[in-house]
Amino acid sequence: MKTISCQFEYKIYESIEELSVPDRELMLMAVEELKNAYAPYSNFHVGAAVRLNDQSVYIGSNQENASYPLCMCGERVALYNAAANKPFVPIESLAITIKNLSMIIDKPVSPCGACRQVISEYEFRHRQAIRILLKSDNDEVYVISSVNDLLPLGFNASFL
Ligand code: THU
Repeated sequence: MKTISCQFEYKIYESIEELSVPDRELMLMAVEELKNAYAPYSNFHVGAAVRLNDQSVYIGSNQENASYPLCMCGERVALYNAAANKPFVPIESLAITIKNLSMIIDKPVSPCGACRQVISEYEFRHRQAIRILLKSDNDEVYVISSVNDLLPLGFNASFL
């Protein structure tokens, strides 16, 4: 028997001002996208923006439904928007932000398990890590270099 430990590093920027210009712009687009969230049931708004290698940007926000399981996360709307428009261009970065209308969230919120799996699919498809930028109500921004850090021992097409 042996024990394997996993650890990962991520960066914490004190504010969006500390980010590079492209990262700051991407996060600001995600923040702007919050207003398009359709979240009348949870009141939890998610805005996301994806930057591709060709520097084009695609946005998305969560879209809810009275039939709750049909709700779609903002990250996935943005990723599918990008993939539907530029299927063959690898994804460089994904910025995600949230606004809970019922309370202040003072630390970045990271993507749900389903979204981690979808991000992983696009990393595998394009053989390129996707940087993930996270921000909530406070100023801090977390930057994670790959979804593999959030999804250790993940499942992907290499097993199929
Ligand atoms: N949501 C996202 O958009 N992304 C996540 O990673 C977690 C949850 C959405 C789904 C639903 O509209 C609301 O947030 C509450 O779960």
